[in-house]
Amino acid sequence: MTSLVDLDVAGKRVFLRCDLNVPLKESKITDDGRIRASLPTINALLEKGASIVIAAHLGRPKGEVKPELSLAPVAVRLAELLGKPVQFIPAITGADVTAKAQALAPGEILLLENIRFASAETSKDESERLALATELANLADIYVGDGFGAVHRKHASVFDLPKLLPHAAGTLVAAEVEVLKKLTVDPVRPYGVVLGGSKVSDKIGVIANLLGKVDVMAIGGGMLFTFLAAQGKEIGTSLVEVELIDTVKGLIKQAEDSGVKLLIPTDIVIAPTFSADATPTLVSSDAIPNNQMGLDIGPESAAAFAAAIKGCKTVFWNGPMGVFEFPKFAAGTKVIAQALTEVSGISVVGGGDSAAAVRALGFDDFQFGYISTGGGASLEYLEGKELPGLTALDL
Ligand code: 3PG
Ligand code: MG
Repeated sequence: MTSLVDLDVAGKRVFLRCDLNVPLKESKITDDGRIRASLPTINALLEKGASIVIAAHLGRPKGEVKPELSLAPVAVRLAELLGKPVQFIPAITGADVTAKAQALAPGEILLLENIRFASAETSKDESERLALATELANLADIYVGDGFGAVHRKHASVFDLPKLLPHAAGTLVAAEVEVLKKLTVDPVRPYGVVLGGSKVSDKIGVIANLLGKVDVMAIGGGMLFTFLAAQGKEIGTSLVEVELIDTVKGLIKQAEDSGVKLLIPTDIVIAPTFSADATPTLVSSDAIPNNQMGLDIGPESAAAFAAAIKGCKTVFWNGPMGVFEFPKFAAGTKVIAQALTEVSGISVVGGGDSAAAVRALGFDDFQFGYISTGGGASLEYLEGKELPGLTALDL
């Protein structure tokens, strides 16, 4: 792989793919972690005398222009953090974009609009993606891939474009890969993974694959209720993916057969409605009433997860344990975050949501071994899958 250090970019225009997919609330950025994580590569390129065209995505606009998913607020925050102007253009391709890119002097930055407003970016049709990639390639001399959170996507700006230009990985992508290698090449054992988040369907493959690699797996978040249902328990009005109950039964069996310690919550914090001011009640996981929903793991489960985590030498955590955005349902996530800070080996927090959660709960980045900017990307890496955005960078 070519690293940024080897690259001669002086006087050249670099096309830089970043992951600037930050959480927004009424067009205000609620966690700028991914923007901050992109700064070292941007600064390194500027110091070397390059000009930069940056492309990034925000949310999943599915090929349509969605004003609420514009990168305009990101341009403002990026400029603040860099202490330098960032030109923003509300377009991805076209004569204006070309003119602006060509007019960039060394040290100047142009941020394109949300790349996913172009349907070709995420198209399954290779020729469509290639057409967009070819237009983007004309904007620059060199490609740098630094959007780690999106490297698992076979998208035009991630996968097709780097093949058309001399390319290198940015420092964020290089750092992420180095950490994830420690979790895949001979991890120090015991090795534990904590998975949360809302959808089992997103994680079925991950769970199945990781069950063959880890010693401990703990399940929290909305997806835990599909596990409880698979154990034959009543889950009230909790989130559930009924069509996956049988698959999850298979996963539970797989864990038993392979001797992996699978932790499924034994107590749950429930409430009548999904709202910040709903009254929480703690119940055993086999006593969820039919008119209430689970919104967090209970303290007994959190303590069991924490003990298991602290007993591990390698831990990866992705996905909040409960609805941490509502303070009454944040306790489980907080206990898990605290436990990760106490791991004596390597602890990695993966994913935009999990990283935002730990910061929102008052933890500092330095308390963890590493905070990965990619949730899906890091999980797929841990599964041993080939990631298109890394392959394209020869990683
Ligand atoms: C993320 O938020 O996980 C990354 O930015 C990738 O986004 P995606 O899951 O919409 O591809
Ligand atoms: Mg995400």
